[in-house]
Amino acid sequence: MQNITTTLKKLFYLWRRTQVPVKQPIKISRIDNLIIFLVCILISIISSYQLLLISPLNSAEFFSWLLTFSEILISSGVLILVSKKENPTISSRQIFLIITLLLAVQVTKLVSASTISPLSMIIPPALIISQGMGSITALAWVSIASFSWPDPAVAINNNLFFILLVCSSVVSILGGRIRSRAQLLQLSIFVPIGSFLSQWILIGKDKISLVNNQDFTLVNGNIFSDSLLLAIVMLFTILFIPIFESLFGLLTKARLLELADKEKPLIRRLSLEAPGTFEHTLLICGLAEEATRIIGGDIDLVKTGALYHDIGKLHAPKWFIENQDGSKNPHDELDDPIKSAEVLQAHVDEGLKFARKNRLPKLISNFIPEHQGTLKMGYFFQKAKEKNLDINEYYFRYKGPIPQSKETAILMLADGCEAALRAMNINASDEKALETISNIIYSRQKDGQLDDSNLSKGEIFLIKKAFLNVWKRIRHRRIQYPASKNNTFS
Ligand SMILES: [Fe+2]
Ligand SMILES: [Fe+2]
Repeated sequence: MQNITTTLKKLFYLWRRTQVPVKQPIKISRIDNLIIFLVCILISIISSYQLLLISPLNSAEFFSWLLTFSEILISSGVLILVSKKENPTISSRQIFLIITLLLAVQVTKLVSASTISPLSMIIPPALIISQGMGSITALAWVSIASFSWPDPAVAINNNLFFILLVCSSVVSILGGRIRSRAQLLQLSIFVPIGSFLSQWILIGKDKISLVNNQDFTLVNGNIFSDSLLLAIVMLFTILFIPIFESLFGLLTKARLLELADKEKPLIRRLSLEAPGTFEHTLLICGLAEEATRIIGGDIDLVKTGALYHDIGKLHAPKWFIENQDGSKNPHDELDDPIKSAEVLQAHVDEGLKFARKNRLPKLISNFIPEHQGTLKMGYFFQKAKEKNLDINEYYFRYKGPIPQSKETAILMLADGCEAALRAMNINASDEKALETISNIIYSRQKDGQLDDSNLSKGEIFLIKKAFLNVWKRIRHRRIQYPASKNNTFS
Protein backbone atom coordinates (compact mmCIF):
# COMPACT_ATOMS: atom_id res chain seq x y z
CA MET A 1 0.00 0.00 0.00
CA GLN A 2 2.82 2.34 0.95
CA ASN A 3 4.51 1.58 -2.38
CA ILE A 4 1.36 2.58 -4.27
CA THR A 5 1.14 5.85 -2.31
CA THR A 6 4.82 6.60 -3.01
CA THR A 7 4.38 5.82 -6.72
CA LEU A 8 1.28 8.00 -6.89
CA LYS A 9 3.17 10.81 -5.15
CA LYS A 10 6.04 10.48 -7.63
CA LEU A 11 3.62 10.49 -10.59
CA PHE A 12 1.88 13.55 -9.17
CA TYR A 13 5.25 15.27 -8.74
CA LEU A 14 6.27 14.41 -12.33
CA TRP A 15 2.95 15.68 -13.62
CA ARG A 16 3.49 18.98 -11.79
CA ARG A 17 6.98 19.24 -13.28
CA THR A 18 5.54 18.86 -16.79
CA GLN A 19 3.15 21.79 -16.35
CA VAL A 20 5.75 24.24 -17.62
CA PRO A 21 4.38 27.01 -19.82
CA VAL A 22 5.73 27.52 -23.34
CA LYS A 23 9.16 29.13 -23.23
CA GLN A 24 9.71 32.64 -24.49
CA PRO A 25 11.47 32.65 -27.86
CA ILE A 26 14.98 34.14 -27.87
CA LYS A 27 15.14 37.42 -29.71
CA ILE A 28 17.89 37.27 -32.31
CA SER A 29 18.05 40.03 -34.89
CA ARG A 30 17.56 39.25 -38.58
CA ILE A 31 21.12 40.28 -39.41
CA ASP A 32 22.53 37.95 -36.76
CA ASN A 33 20.33 35.14 -38.06
CA LEU A 34 21.57 35.79 -41.59
CA ILE A 35 25.23 35.79 -40.50
CA ILE A 36 24.74 32.56 -38.53
CA PHE A 37 23.02 30.95 -41.53
CA LEU A 38 25.82 32.04 -43.89
CA VAL A 39 28.46 30.58 -41.57
CA CYS A 40 26.50 27.31 -41.49
CA ILE A 41 26.45 27.30 -45.31
CA LEU A 42 30.19 27.94 -45.31
CA ILE A 43 30.76 25.03 -42.92
CA SER A 44 28.66 22.78 -45.17
CA ILE A 45 30.57 23.86 -48.30
CA ILE A 46 33.98 23.36 -46.66
CA SER A 47 32.93 19.98 -45.34
CA SER A 48 31.62 18.69 -48.66
CA TYR A 49 33.17 20.54 -51.61
CA GLN A 50 35.88 17.91 -52.18
CA LEU A 51 33.18 15.53 -53.36
CA LEU A 52 32.56 17.89 -56.29
CA LEU A 53 36.21 17.79 -57.37
CA ILE A 54 36.00 14.17 -58.50
CA SER A 55 36.09 14.12 -62.27
CA PRO A 56 34.12 13.26 -64.27
CA LEU A 57 31.29 14.37 -62.06
CA ASN A 58 28.18 12.31 -62.64
CA SER A 59 24.74 12.62 -61.16
CA ALA A 60 25.41 9.98 -58.48
CA GLU A 61 28.42 11.92 -57.19
CA PHE A 62 26.53 15.19 -57.34
CA PHE A 63 23.74 13.58 -55.35
CA SER A 64 26.27 12.30 -52.82
CA TRP A 65 27.66 15.86 -52.46
CA LEU A 66 24.16 17.25 -52.03
CA LEU A 67 23.47 14.67 -49.35
CA THR A 68 26.65 15.51 -47.40
CA PHE A 69 26.04 19.25 -47.80
CA SER A 70 22.48 18.98 -46.46
CA GLU A 71 23.57 16.64 -43.70
CA ILE A 72 26.11 19.16 -42.37
CA LEU A 73 23.71 22.07 -42.78
CA ILE A 74 20.93 20.26 -40.89
CA SER A 75 23.41 19.12 -38.21
CA SER A 76 24.52 22.75 -37.69
CA GLY A 77 20.87 23.76 -37.33
CA VAL A 78 20.28 20.98 -34.81
CA LEU A 79 23.37 22.10 -32.90
CA ILE A 80 21.95 25.63 -32.63
CA LEU A 81 18.58 24.27 -31.48
CA VAL A 82 20.26 22.09 -28.84
CA SER A 83 22.24 25.06 -27.55
CA LYS A 84 19.05 27.17 -27.38
CA LYS A 85 17.25 24.39 -25.55
CA GLU A 86 20.05 24.05 -22.99
CA ASN A 87 20.53 27.81 -22.61
CA PRO A 88 17.20 29.59 -23.08
CA THR A 89 18.96 32.95 -22.67
CA ILE A 90 21.78 32.23 -25.14
CA SER A 91 22.81 35.29 -27.14
CA SER A 92 23.58 35.50 -30.84
CA ARG A 93 27.23 36.14 -29.92
CA GLN A 94 27.38 32.79 -28.15
CA ILE A 95 25.71 30.93 -31.04
CA PHE A 96 28.21 32.64 -33.28
CA LEU A 97 31.03 31.30 -31.09
CA ILE A 98 29.75 27.71 -31.34
CA ILE A 99 29.49 27.71 -35.12
CA THR A 100 32.71 29.68 -35.61
CA LEU A 101 34.55 27.04 -33.60
CA LEU A 102 32.97 24.40 -35.86
CA LEU A 103 34.07 26.35 -38.93
CA ALA A 104 37.59 26.72 -37.50
CA VAL A 105 37.83 22.98 -36.86
CA GLN A 106 36.61 22.10 -40.36
CA VAL A 107 39.16 24.49 -41.91
CA THR A 108 41.94 23.09 -39.68
CA LYS A 109 41.02 19.56 -40.73
CA LEU A 110 41.27 20.60 -44.36
CA VAL A 111 44.55 22.46 -44.03
CA SER A 112 46.47 20.47 -41.43
CA ALA A 113 44.78 17.10 -41.01
CA SER A 114 48.13 15.45 -41.61
CA THR A 115 50.07 17.46 -39.04
CA ILE A 116 47.65 18.09 -36.18
CA SER A 117 46.03 15.26 -34.29
CA PRO A 118 42.20 15.16 -34.31
CA LEU A 119 42.37 15.09 -30.50
CA SER A 120 44.02 18.52 -30.39
CA MET A 121 41.53 19.88 -32.91
CA ILE A 122 38.31 18.76 -31.24
CA ILE A 123 38.89 18.45 -27.48
CA PRO A 124 39.96 22.07 -26.66
CA PRO A 125 36.92 23.70 -28.37
CA ALA A 126 34.70 21.13 -26.61
CA LEU A 127 36.16 22.37 -23.32
CA ILE A 128 35.30 26.01 -24.13
CA ILE A 129 31.75 25.11 -25.19
CA SER A 130 31.07 22.87 -22.19
CA GLN A 131 32.35 25.56 -19.82
CA GLY A 132 30.37 28.38 -21.38
CA MET A 133 27.27 26.69 -22.78
CA GLY A 134 26.93 23.37 -20.96
CA SER A 135 27.62 19.69 -21.49
CA ILE A 136 24.75 18.86 -23.86
CA THR A 137 25.69 21.59 -26.33
CA ALA A 138 29.32 20.48 -26.12
CA LEU A 139 28.38 16.85 -26.78
CA ALA A 140 26.27 17.87 -29.79
CA TRP A 141 29.17 19.98 -31.08
CA VAL A 142 31.62 17.10 -30.58
CA SER A 143 29.45 14.66 -32.50
CA ILE A 144 29.22 16.98 -35.53
CA ALA A 145 32.91 17.92 -35.42
CA SER A 146 34.00 14.28 -35.07
CA PHE A 147 31.78 12.71 -37.72
CA SER A 148 32.15 15.19 -40.54
CA TRP A 149 35.55 15.11 -42.16
CA PRO A 150 35.98 17.38 -45.16
CA ASP A 151 38.84 15.38 -46.64
CA PRO A 152 37.77 11.80 -47.37
CA ALA A 153 41.38 10.86 -48.13
CA VAL A 154 42.24 11.24 -44.45
CA ALA A 155 40.54 8.30 -42.87
CA ILE A 156 41.12 8.17 -39.13
CA ASN A 157 42.19 4.99 -37.52
CA ASN A 158 39.16 3.38 -35.82
CA ASN A 159 40.92 3.11 -32.48
CA LEU A 160 41.94 6.75 -32.57
CA PHE A 161 38.39 7.72 -33.48
CA PHE A 162 37.11 5.77 -30.49
CA ILE A 163 39.66 7.48 -28.18
CA LEU A 164 38.70 10.85 -29.65
CA LEU A 165 35.01 10.26 -28.92
CA VAL A 166 35.65 9.03 -25.37
CA CYS A 167 38.08 11.86 -24.47
CA SER A 168 35.94 14.61 -25.98
CA SER A 169 32.80 13.25 -24.30
CA VAL A 170 34.59 13.13 -20.94
CA VAL A 171 35.77 16.73 -21.42
CA SER A 172 32.26 17.82 -22.48
CA ILE A 173 30.58 16.21 -19.48
CA LEU A 174 33.15 17.22 -16.86
CA GLY A 175 33.71 20.65 -18.41
CA GLY A 176 30.09 21.57 -17.76
CA ARG A 177 30.41 20.65 -14.07
CA ILE A 178 33.85 21.91 -13.19
CA ARG A 179 33.66 24.62 -10.55
CA SER A 180 37.22 25.96 -10.35
CA ARG A 181 40.20 26.79 -12.51
CA ALA A 182 42.27 24.25 -10.52
CA GLN A 183 39.94 21.43 -11.59
CA LEU A 184 40.21 22.70 -15.14
CA LEU A 185 43.97 22.44 -14.89
CA GLN A 186 43.70 18.88 -13.57
CA LEU A 187 41.47 18.00 -16.54
CA SER A 188 44.02 19.40 -18.98
CA ILE A 189 46.67 17.13 -17.47
CA PHE A 190 44.68 13.94 -16.93
CA VAL A 191 42.90 13.87 -20.31
CA PRO A 192 46.18 13.96 -22.32
CA ILE A 193 47.66 11.30 -20.00
CA GLY A 194 44.52 9.19 -20.50
CA SER A 195 44.68 9.65 -24.25
CA PHE A 196 48.37 8.75 -24.24
CA LEU A 197 47.79 5.53 -22.30
CA SER A 198 44.80 4.47 -24.37
CA GLN A 199 46.62 5.21 -27.63
CA TRP A 200 49.59 3.25 -26.36
CA ILE A 201 47.38 0.27 -25.54
CA LEU A 202 45.12 0.40 -28.62
CA ILE A 203 47.44 1.81 -31.29
CA GLY A 204 51.00 1.94 -30.02
CA LYS A 205 51.59 -1.76 -29.82
CA ASP A 206 50.87 -2.39 -33.48
CA LYS A 207 52.75 0.74 -34.52
CA ILE A 208 49.85 1.70 -36.76
CA SER A 209 50.12 5.19 -38.12
CA LEU A 210 47.57 7.52 -36.53
CA VAL A 211 46.26 8.75 -39.83
CA ASN A 212 46.25 6.43 -42.79
CA ASN A 213 48.08 7.48 -45.94
CA GLN A 214 49.80 10.36 -44.20
CA ASP A 215 52.60 10.74 -41.71
CA PHE A 216 52.63 13.11 -38.82
CA THR A 217 55.33 15.73 -39.02
CA LEU A 218 55.36 15.84 -35.23
CA VAL A 219 56.39 12.17 -35.42
CA ASN A 220 58.04 10.58 -32.36
CA GLY A 221 56.00 7.43 -32.87
CA ASN A 222 53.14 9.92 -33.05
CA ILE A 223 51.49 8.92 -29.79
CA PHE A 224 53.63 10.90 -27.33
CA SER A 225 53.80 14.07 -29.41
CA ASP A 226 50.09 13.76 -30.05
CA SER A 227 49.22 13.73 -26.33
CA LEU A 228 51.81 16.41 -25.56
CA LEU A 229 50.31 18.68 -28.19
CA LEU A 230 46.86 18.05 -26.72
CA ALA A 231 48.11 19.02 -23.25
CA ILE A 232 49.71 22.22 -24.59
CA VAL A 233 46.61 23.24 -26.57
CA MET A 234 44.35 22.52 -23.57
CA LEU A 235 46.54 24.60 -21.25
CA PHE A 236 46.48 27.49 -23.73
CA THR A 237 42.70 27.13 -24.01
CA ILE A 238 42.38 27.45 -20.21
CA LEU A 239 44.58 30.54 -20.34
CA PHE A 240 42.33 32.07 -22.99
CA ILE A 241 38.98 31.11 -21.41
CA PRO A 242 38.73 34.45 -19.49
CA ILE A 243 39.10 36.27 -22.83
CA PHE A 244 36.31 34.14 -24.32
CA GLU A 245 34.24 34.93 -21.22
CA SER A 246 34.45 38.67 -21.75
CA LEU A 247 34.30 38.61 -25.58
CA PHE A 248 31.27 36.33 -25.84
CA GLY A 249 29.63 37.03 -22.48
CA LEU A 250 30.20 33.44 -21.34
CA LEU A 251 29.48 32.69 -17.73
CA THR A 252 31.53 29.71 -16.63
CA LYS A 253 31.12 28.06 -13.22
CA ALA A 254 34.61 29.23 -12.26
CA ARG A 255 33.71 32.84 -13.13
CA LEU A 256 30.47 32.57 -11.16
CA LEU A 257 32.29 31.33 -8.09
CA GLU A 258 34.91 34.06 -8.43
CA LEU A 259 32.13 36.65 -8.53
CA ALA A 260 30.49 35.07 -5.48
CA ASP A 261 33.63 35.64 -3.42
CA LYS A 262 32.59 37.89 -0.54
CA GLU A 263 36.00 39.56 -0.64
CA LYS A 264 35.12 41.15 -3.99
CA PRO A 265 35.39 44.97 -3.53
CA LEU A 266 31.73 45.62 -4.36
CA ILE A 267 30.49 43.02 -1.86
CA ARG A 268 32.94 44.29 0.79
CA ARG A 269 31.59 47.79 0.26
CA LEU A 270 28.05 46.48 0.67
CA SER A 271 28.94 44.80 3.98
CA LEU A 272 30.61 47.97 5.31
CA GLU A 273 28.39 50.74 3.94
CA ALA A 274 25.03 48.96 3.94
CA PRO A 275 25.27 46.20 6.58
CA GLY A 276 21.50 45.78 6.74
CA THR A 277 21.28 45.19 3.01
CA PHE A 278 24.22 42.79 3.26
CA GLU A 279 22.44 40.72 5.93
CA HIS A 280 19.24 40.78 3.85
CA THR A 281 21.30 39.60 0.85
CA LEU A 282 22.80 36.68 2.78
CA LEU A 283 19.40 35.45 3.92
CA ILE A 284 18.04 35.76 0.39
CA CYS A 285 21.02 33.74 -0.90
CA GLY A 286 19.97 30.93 1.47
CA LEU A 287 16.31 31.06 0.44
CA ALA A 288 17.03 31.27 -3.28
CA GLU A 289 19.68 28.53 -3.14
CA GLU A 290 17.34 26.08 -1.40
CA ALA A 291 14.49 26.83 -3.82
CA THR A 292 16.72 26.55 -6.90
CA ARG A 293 18.13 23.24 -5.69
CA ILE A 294 14.66 21.78 -5.22
CA ILE A 295 13.54 22.65 -8.77
CA GLY A 296 16.87 21.67 -10.34
CA GLY A 297 17.93 25.17 -11.47
CA ASP A 298 21.36 26.79 -11.61
CA ILE A 299 22.38 27.15 -7.95
CA ASP A 300 25.68 28.97 -8.60
CA LEU A 301 23.91 31.49 -10.84
CA VAL A 302 21.17 32.28 -8.34
CA LYS A 303 23.62 32.55 -5.43
CA THR A 304 25.83 35.01 -7.30
CA GLY A 305 22.86 36.93 -8.69
CA ALA A 306 21.38 37.21 -5.19
CA LEU A 307 24.64 38.62 -3.88
CA TYR A 308 24.53 41.51 -6.36
CA HIS A 309 20.75 42.07 -6.62
CA ASP A 310 20.57 45.08 -4.28
CA ILE A 311 24.03 46.48 -4.97
CA GLY A 312 22.36 49.70 -6.15
CA LYS A 313 21.41 50.50 -2.54
CA LEU A 314 25.04 51.54 -2.09
CA HIS A 315 24.16 54.87 -3.70
CA ALA A 316 22.05 55.85 -0.67
CA PRO A 317 22.05 53.13 2.02
CA LYS A 318 20.23 55.18 4.66
CA TRP A 319 17.14 55.50 2.47
CA PHE A 320 16.43 51.81 2.94
CA ILE A 321 14.81 50.60 6.14
CA GLU A 322 17.21 47.73 6.78
CA ASN A 323 20.13 50.20 7.12
CA GLN A 324 18.40 52.79 9.29
CA ASP A 325 19.33 51.23 12.59
CA GLY A 326 16.61 53.06 14.51
CA SER A 327 17.75 56.48 13.22
CA LYS A 328 15.44 58.93 11.47
CA ASN A 329 13.80 57.76 8.28
CA PRO A 330 14.76 60.29 5.55
CA HIS A 331 11.54 59.44 3.70
CA ASP A 332 9.57 60.98 6.61
CA GLU A 333 11.56 64.19 6.31
CA LEU A 334 11.15 64.25 2.55
CA ASP A 335 7.40 63.70 2.89
CA ASP A 336 6.94 63.28 -0.84
CA PRO A 337 5.76 59.80 -1.89
CA ILE A 338 6.61 60.37 -5.58
CA LYS A 339 10.20 61.38 -4.75
CA SER A 340 10.48 58.41 -2.36
CA ALA A 341 9.33 56.10 -5.16
CA GLU A 342 12.06 57.60 -7.35
CA VAL A 343 14.64 56.76 -4.67
CA LEU A 344 13.45 53.14 -4.65
CA GLN A 345 13.62 52.92 -8.46
CA ALA A 346 17.12 54.43 -8.26
CA HIS A 347 18.40 51.33 -6.44
CA VAL A 348 17.70 49.42 -9.66
CA ASP A 349 19.11 52.06 -12.03
CA GLU A 350 22.20 52.65 -9.90
CA GLY A 351 22.63 48.89 -9.51
CA LEU A 352 22.79 48.52 -13.29
CA LYS A 353 25.39 51.31 -13.40
CA PHE A 354 27.47 49.51 -10.74
CA ALA A 355 27.13 46.30 -12.79
CA ARG A 356 28.38 48.02 -15.94
CA LYS A 357 31.25 49.68 -14.10
CA ASN A 358 32.32 46.40 -12.53
CA ARG A 359 31.80 44.47 -15.77
CA LEU A 360 29.34 42.03 -14.26
CA PRO A 361 28.09 39.48 -16.82
CA LYS A 362 24.64 40.09 -18.30
CA LEU A 363 23.19 36.98 -16.65
CA ILE A 364 24.12 38.44 -13.25
CA SER A 365 23.08 42.03 -13.93
CA ASN A 366 19.67 40.69 -15.09
CA PHE A 367 18.92 39.96 -11.43
CA ILE A 368 19.05 43.69 -10.61
CA PRO A 369 15.95 44.91 -12.49
CA GLU A 370 14.17 41.55 -12.63
CA HIS A 371 14.10 40.96 -8.87
CA GLN A 372 11.81 43.99 -8.60
CA GLY A 373 9.99 43.38 -11.87
CA THR A 374 7.14 45.83 -12.20
CA LEU A 375 6.09 45.48 -8.57
CA LYS A 376 4.03 48.19 -6.97
CA MET A 377 5.68 50.26 -4.23
CA GLY A 378 2.60 49.73 -2.10
CA TYR A 379 3.64 51.74 0.96
CA PHE A 380 4.36 54.97 -0.91
CA PHE A 381 1.37 54.47 -3.24
CA GLN A 382 -0.83 54.27 -0.16
CA LYS A 383 0.83 57.40 1.29
CA ALA A 384 0.17 59.29 -1.93
CA LYS A 385 -3.46 58.19 -1.85
CA GLU A 386 -3.78 59.39 1.75
CA LYS A 387 -2.43 62.77 0.68
CA ASN A 388 -5.07 62.85 -2.07
CA LEU A 389 -2.41 63.46 -4.69
CA ASP A 390 -3.40 63.21 -8.32
CA ILE A 391 -1.56 59.97 -8.75
CA ASN A 392 -0.99 57.48 -11.47
CA GLU A 393 -0.10 53.96 -10.36
CA TYR A 394 2.53 53.92 -13.11
CA TYR A 395 4.83 56.19 -11.05
CA PHE A 396 4.68 53.75 -8.16
CA ARG A 397 5.72 50.68 -10.06
CA TYR A 398 9.28 49.56 -10.78
CA LYS A 399 10.21 49.85 -14.43
CA GLY A 400 10.87 46.11 -14.89
CA PRO A 401 11.27 43.91 -16.80
CA ILE A 402 9.48 41.12 -14.96
CA PRO A 403 11.63 38.01 -14.28
CA GLN A 404 12.67 36.35 -17.52
CA SER A 405 14.15 33.19 -16.00
CA LYS A 406 13.33 30.77 -13.21
CA GLU A 407 16.36 31.94 -11.24
CA THR A 408 15.44 35.65 -11.29
CA ALA A 409 11.82 34.74 -10.45
CA ILE A 410 12.99 32.72 -7.44
CA LEU A 411 15.03 35.71 -6.31
CA MET A 412 11.97 37.97 -6.58
CA LEU A 413 9.97 35.53 -4.44
CA ALA A 414 12.81 35.17 -1.91
CA ASP A 415 13.12 38.98 -1.77
CA GLY A 416 9.41 39.23 -1.01
CA CYS A 417 9.41 36.53 1.67
CA GLU A 418 12.65 37.49 3.42
CA ALA A 419 11.37 40.38 5.51
CA ALA A 420 8.16 38.54 6.44
CA LEU A 421 10.06 35.43 7.54
CA ARG A 422 12.62 37.47 9.46
CA ALA A 423 9.87 39.33 11.30
CA MET A 424 7.80 36.25 12.04
CA ASN A 425 7.28 35.21 15.63
CA ILE A 426 9.69 32.49 16.72
CA ASN A 427 6.77 30.44 18.03
CA ALA A 428 4.81 30.63 14.77
CA SER A 429 3.74 27.22 13.49
CA ASP A 430 4.88 25.74 10.18
CA GLU A 431 1.34 26.18 8.85
CA LYS A 432 1.43 29.89 9.68
CA ALA A 433 4.83 30.31 8.00
CA LEU A 434 3.64 28.40 4.90
CA GLU A 435 0.52 30.54 4.76
CA THR A 436 2.59 33.74 4.86
CA ILE A 437 4.91 32.44 2.12
CA SER A 438 1.96 31.32 -0.01
CA ASN A 439 0.21 34.68 0.32
CA ILE A 440 3.32 36.60 -0.79
CA ILE A 441 3.95 34.27 -3.72
CA TYR A 442 0.29 34.34 -4.74
CA SER A 443 0.26 38.15 -4.76
CA ARG A 444 3.29 38.17 -7.13
CA GLN A 445 1.63 35.56 -9.33
CA LYS A 446 -1.65 37.47 -9.44
CA ASP A 447 0.22 40.64 -10.34
CA GLY A 448 1.61 38.85 -13.44
CA GLN A 449 5.21 39.06 -12.20
CA LEU A 450 5.91 35.37 -12.90
CA ASP A 451 4.37 35.30 -16.40
CA ASP A 452 7.66 35.19 -18.31
CA SER A 453 9.60 33.07 -15.84
CA ASN A 454 8.56 29.61 -17.09
CA LEU A 455 7.95 28.47 -13.51
CA SER A 456 5.34 25.72 -13.47
CA LYS A 457 2.68 25.39 -10.79
CA GLY A 458 4.51 22.34 -9.50
CA GLU A 459 7.73 24.27 -9.22
CA ILE A 460 6.03 27.11 -7.36
CA PHE A 461 4.69 24.51 -4.94
CA LEU A 462 8.24 23.16 -4.43
CA ILE A 463 9.61 26.69 -3.95
CA LYS A 464 7.13 27.28 -1.11
CA LYS A 465 8.30 24.04 0.54
CA ALA A 466 11.93 25.12 0.16
CA PHE A 467 11.27 28.52 1.74
CA LEU A 468 9.50 26.77 4.61
CA ASN A 469 12.57 24.56 5.15
CA VAL A 470 14.77 27.66 5.34
CA TRP A 471 12.34 29.25 7.80
CA LYS A 472 12.67 26.16 10.01
CA ARG A 473 16.44 26.61 9.88
CA ILE A 474 16.17 30.30 10.80
CA ARG A 475 13.86 29.45 13.69
CA HIS A 476 16.33 26.88 14.94
CA ARG A 477 19.13 29.44 14.78
CA ARG A 478 17.11 31.95 16.79
CA ILE A 479 16.41 29.53 19.64
CA GLN A 480 18.62 30.65 22.51
CA TYR A 481 20.83 27.94 23.93
CA PRO A 482 20.89 27.84 27.75
CA ALA A 483 24.13 29.43 28.94
CA SER A 484 26.37 27.23 31.05
CA LYS A 485 26.92 28.15 34.67
CA ASN A 486 30.13 30.11 34.28
CA ASN A 487 29.33 31.24 30.76
CA THR A 488 32.10 29.26 29.15
CA PHE A 489 31.66 26.90 26.27
CA SER A 490 33.85 24.02 25.41
FE1 LIG B 1 15.70 45.39 -4.35
FE1 LIG C 1 16.45 42.77 -1.94
